[in-house]
Amino acid sequence: MAELTDPETLRETVREKYAAAARAAAAGAAAPSSCCGPSEVALTDASGTQVFGDALYGAEDAAAAGTALEASLGCGVPTAVADLHEGDTVLDLGSGAGGDVFISASRVGPAGRAIGLDMTDEMLELARANAAAAGLTNVEFVKGHIEQIPLPDSSVDVVISNCVINLSADKSRVLREVTRVLRPGGRFAVSDVIADPDMGAATRADMAAWTGCIAGALTREEFGQTLAAAGLGAVEIRETHRVHEHAAAAIIRASKPTRGACCDPAALEACCAPTEKADCCVPSDSAPSSCGCQDAA
Ligand SMILES: C[S@@+](CC[C@H](N)C(=O)[O-])C[C@H]1O[C@@H](n2cnc3c(N)ncnc32)[C@H](O)[C@@H]1O
Repeated sequence: MAELTDPETLRETVREKYAAAARAAAAGAAAPSSCCGPSEVALTDASGTQVFGDALYGAEDAAAAGTALEASLGCGVPTAVADLHEGDTVLDLGSGAGGDVFISASRVGPAGRAIGLDMTDEMLELARANAAAAGLTNVEFVKGHIEQIPLPDSSVDVVISNCVINLSADKSRVLREVTRVLRPGGRFAVSDVIADPDMGAATRADMAAWTGCIAGALTREEFGQTLAAAGLGAVEIRETHRVHEHAAAAIIRASKPTRGACCDPAALEACCAPTEKADCCVPSDSAPSSCGCQDAA
């Protein structure tokens, strides 16, 4: 249990788990057991429906993702709600075998770029092999941590991610990094797990449940607050399906304001009720928000 309090141990345990999953996929073994796939986390729900991985994708996306989808470990389809346009630069946090990067690449076209970021060498190797096999030229895979994204400020139009932010020991930092790399008006569209408020201490303290994408999940309210504190607005969180007795998969969307935030972080912390914070700095030219933040325009 103590190890769950140490961010370095957590990250290394997560890395080892996904390195093993990538090795198994590369060896052509049966798909790793889930997003997350410890035996403690069911791949299927009580009725036998698959709740993680490739079964969540439709035929068109499956064709774009190619063989990478066989090694999918996600809990949704972020590209389905990411509003991608020709020429966009897309960043996928924790890109794994690359399926969502390849789908993004097909949407943004040759004038655009899809970048996968992952910390695990074995996953990067698998993704690059998949890209080479597919002959894709507008994709690249970069090694790094989502807590310290190795890209310049305001260099990305869309950030996507599929079942990864829950694995980070410092989600506030991840979302601040998202805000930094997004261009003004840029979009954030991820699939991730959100915890029920009553998730118990035993689940929270279970390392297998953490690497299985459950124990580290924020609640819906915490996710909204963390996005707002990071400077993202227009937050939308929508549950898609249950993945655990105490957690659900969700689509989470937000955007970076097109101009300076209407509140500095201290004012944002103080000025609004938690549910209103996300609307404090909406990227629009509409009237000042109802929660009392000062409009900087
Ligand atoms: C659950 S898998 C999801 C992979 C992929 N998004 C998908 O849908 O198949 C988590 C991925 O995130 C990567 N990852 C986990 N924590 C990370 C971090 N802090 N920084 C960068 N990559 C991370 C892992 O190496 C792994 O490839």
